[in-house]
Amino acid sequence: MEEFGVSPRLQGRGIGGAFLRAIERRVATQGLTHLILLTSREVPAFRFYQRLGYEPIGHTVCLVKALEGQGRTAP
Ligand SMILES: CC(C)(COP(=O)(O)OP(=O)(O)OC[C@H]1O[C@@H](n2cnc3c(N)ncnc32)[C@H](O)[C@@H]1OP(=O)(O)O)[C@@H](O)C(=O)NCCC(=O)NCCS
Repeated sequence: MEEFGVSPRLQGRGIGGAFLRAIERRVATQGLTHLILLTSREVPAFRFYQRLGYEPIGHTVCLVKALEGQGRTAP
């Protein structure tokens, strides 16, 4: 999944949490043991993920480099 969001007028009603927990249940039945997601500490969603039990992986950072002539900026 690239991204997901809840309509601003419906946020704060448990919809996002219910959606993410439903995904967790589904992938668990397929034998997966962990979910990994990418976000920024600087966005409000970071707190949302923490509330749902997601934790930063140590000091891991996600790095990117646009290859010469191929990219503009970070995705
Ligand atoms: C992040 C988002 C999906 C959360 O959906 P939501 O339906 O508003 O979240 P919920 O109501 O299910 O909240 C679940 C828990 O997270 C907490 N939470 C939600 N948004 C939060 C925020 N901005 N800051 C801190 N806590 C937050 C809620 O308080 C709730 O905790 P609780 O169970 O203790 O009450 C929604 O705010 C959104 O679409 N934001 C804009 C798009 C976005 O950031 N998408 C993710 C991109 S990676």
